[in-house]
Amino acid sequence: VSSYAWRIKEADGAWVTTTEGVSLIDLTNSKGSVLLGHRDPDVVDRVCALVRAGLSGWRVEDLIEKVTARILARVPEYDQVAFFKTGTAAVKGAVHGFRRTTGKPLVVSAGYHGWDPLWQSPTAPFTLNEHGVFDCYYVADELESFLQRQAGQTACAILAPDFVNLPADTLIRLFSICRDHGVPVVADEVKFGLRLGPGPSIYNLGLHADAVVFSKGMANGFPLACVAGRGEVLDEVRHCISTLTFEAVALAASDATLEKLARVTAEAGIAREGGRFLSGASGIFAASRLPIRMQGTGAIFQFVCGDSALEESFYQACAAAGLLLYEKDNQTPSWQFKEAVVESALERLAKAVDQLTGELPHLVGAAIPAEAWWAAAWNQMDGFCDPDADPQARRAFLTEQLAAG
Ligand SMILES: Cc1ncc(COP(=O)(O)O)c(C=O)c1O
Repeated sequence: VSSYAWRIKEADGAWVTTTEGVSLIDLTNSKGSVLLGHRDPDVVDRVCALVRAGLSGWRVEDLIEKVTARILARVPEYDQVAFFKTGTAAVKGAVHGFRRTTGKPLVVSAGYHGWDPLWQSPTAPFTLNEHGVFDCYYVADELESFLQRQAGQTACAILAPDFVNLPADTLIRLFSICRDHGVPVVADEVKFGLRLGPGPSIYNLGLHADAVVFSKGMANGFPLACVAGRGEVLDEVRHCISTLTFEAVALAASDATLEKLARVTAEAGIAREGGRFLSGASGIFAASRLPIRMQGTGAIFQFVCGDSALEESFYQACAAAGLLLYEKDNQTPSWQFKEAVVESALERLAKAVDQLTGELPHLVGAAIPAEAWWAAAWNQMDGFCDPDADPQARRAFLTEQLAAG
């Protein structure tokens, strides 16, 4: 019962309805792109008015200026914004900007940055891929030893923060290693930016980057992404345009979305109400004694199952109970996931877990092995989550993941 298997007819607030008339509570929200909830009236009105005015596809300077100003208000340390249609394109634009201005060919990376040949896996862990990218998989020692050898050839580090499976110390350490080696950092905030705070999620750790990328949540499901930064790097990034870079529909959606997110302090509401769900769900799992636990925060979290058969049954039972989940990945509630919806989601989860205890009684009381957590984190962040893991076991795990593609 993959989330793609549902045929959705309509969506409203935190709910979706399938073509067969089934109502589900949506914890996927278009992979985290819909922050305000479905069919947000302010966004719908702005978009419809613009389309009726015949402006779809147009470049409307007013809108570009307004959205630029709204982004810069969230990242006052920067003075320029470059727009893109996808997170993948925006991150690539940032890479281009730093490569062009530094003249250096290599890039270090941690995390997922989109499906693009640039990010192709290397043949072995901790080696360069054929496009000059070194993925450290969030392993600080490996980043350190790569930069000791190659900092002079490295244009920038593209680091995707993670607040679901990664200890905060690890992220802080990765940033400081790059700083110590004089390597500029781009925070890929596509997933966590705007969701964990009004700006980049790294601000929550007191971290700053040389540029940030935003995308999910910027336009409540309409296609828009951006790089914010400064100076000649951003001049280069802004050259990466395509036919519809400035089309007005997504910019109008973004203008309405960013205004409303600030007005209703959406991220605080999402964190609070999601947090209620997280603690209720953790209680349900603890009471059941099934090996399932929650990782993350109220605004974005993941279910970690200690057994693969249990994992499959878990998603099936949740689907049958009326919860739309992003299978094996992170769940991203919207601002409309609140009050009675949270209660209803917890009731649905309790029903699913009840069913599982009946179906899989031999798993009651079982532990969650570290490898199950590693695998869940890998699915969620394309990296290695456990700084205390034995280096040999870590390498074996990563080799296995890379071989599996
Ligand atoms: C951290 C991060 N960067 C980049 C991307 C790619 O963004 P898009 O799918 O919009 O191209 C994603 C997508 O999930 C992401 O999570």
